[in-house]
Amino acid sequence: MSDWLEIKKSILERIKPSRAEEVTLKEVGGQVVEKINSILKKSGIQGTAEIHGSVPHGTWVTGQMDLDIFVVLDTYRERWQLNEVLDALREHTDWEFTEAWAEHPYFQTEIGGFNLDIVPCFRASIGDRIRSATDRSPLHTVWLKGRLNGLGDDVRILKQFLKVTGIYGAEIKIGGFSGYLCELLVIKHGSFMRLMEAASNWGEKVVLKFKNEEREFNDPLVIYDPVDSLRNVASALRKEQYRRFISAARAFKENPSERFFTFDRTPVDTDELLERIGASSLVFIIIEENKAEVPDTLWGQLRRSVGAIDKQLVLKGFNVIRSTVWSNEETRHVLAFMLGAINRTETDKHFGPPVDLEKDVDKFLGIYTDNPRVVSGPDIEDERWFVVLYRHHTHVKDTIDELLNDGGARIGVSRRTAVRILQHHRVIVGEGIDPYLNEGFERHLAEFIRGRPFWVE
Ligand code: CTP
Ligand code: MG
Repeated sequence: MSDWLEIKKSILERIKPSRAEEVTLKEVGGQVVEKINSILKKSGIQGTAEIHGSVPHGTWVTGQMDLDIFVVLDTYRERWQLNEVLDALREHTDWEFTEAWAEHPYFQTEIGGFNLDIVPCFRASIGDRIRSATDRSPLHTVWLKGRLNGLGDDVRILKQFLKVTGIYGAEIKIGGFSGYLCELLVIKHGSFMRLMEAASNWGEKVVLKFKNEEREFNDPLVIYDPVDSLRNVASALRKEQYRRFISAARAFKENPSERFFTFDRTPVDTDELLERIGASSLVFIIIEENKAEVPDTLWGQLRRSVGAIDKQLVLKGFNVIRSTVWSNEETRHVLAFMLGAINRTETDKHFGPPVDLEKDVDKFLGIYTDNPRVVSGPDIEDERWFVVLYRHHTHVKDTIDELLNDGGARIGVSRRTAVRILQHHRVIVGEGIDPYLNEGFERHLAEFIRGRPFWVE
């Protein structure tokens, strides 16, 4: 057996769900579906509950405990029907729902230790006009059936690879590969290994088709949804994540090891981290609140806000090397900026008298020759003397305080974030961040400072 097959086997032992897990998942799923169907009947709603996503596709990774349940309505009249489904469920069950309203109304709930997404949508056939974003999911299950035969494990391997390299998930936080994109990529290339070989050679843009679609997309990776030629399945993939994937694929191909499929769980050494923080110029904005909104909305706001502040700091003369944002998705968000220096030094060109005014010139030269405040000069420009003077330091904290005196709304910080900033925020420089090095922020920060993916060695 080749090295890779050996490694693959060992990864699958860790990530492939057991038969028992599969049975329980499907049992719980079956019960929920039955319950929802009876509620639909009782409420006079024409539709059917169905399980879609990675469980019926046979591509989920163990331990995830997620079930995607779709309530598929028979006929479309108006979008409001989606809410009627949720109202009926709220009325007739004692399930604890979280309403999640990123783009589409749906429920999240926990039953028997499983996380359930309950998503209403409309019945569609391939080629139909799509009424709501989730109408495609039942079609995906149909399309994949028979095409994923024997490839489920390779999809799992790909998902694990992407999770460990930080590229799995189409949500805004990640901007990476959705589960369905993984499924299509493995089908297209025939195996995980062949996908890696192909991806190692991907260039600026890659277009993959199952049919002969023509619509142009301005995305680095285009893979037409075989059930909807108007959709690019990889539309959420951000350019830098696409590049990261290619880089990781190349490194993997060079040296296929289990490292690519194993999370680094070694605890972060806080003392060492503090030392590194001390050695760089970092400034943090901590925002605290009671309860944030759904992750996709929150991450959109945070990303926009960190970008806006980054840009303003640059305009104010700070050398912003890079910035990042972390959140526990509920009560604490941290924006971090790595700077060339915490202080911005200002210098000013100061003009003296015209060269003809001898007396004044003598006075000017007397003051500014060998003056420690002089950065450059005195020298003559056109008919006047001038010096470049060192004026004063501006501390980044003062600049941030000024930028955020209205919460930052005026400079492009998202409206909700600006409100939170006004309610409670703190600007911290360097090691002062110590009390906040927990909940996973310490790992995020350590990786941010290290600034090098693990496969670059
Ligand atoms: N879906 C999609 N595009 C996305 C997210 C979801 O088309 N960006 C659809 C797909 O039909 C997918 C279903 O929603 O099968 C369920 O989505 P999700 O649970 O996010 O992904 P899974 O494919 O189930 O993968 P995972 O194993 O991560 O749950
Ligand atoms: Mg899923």
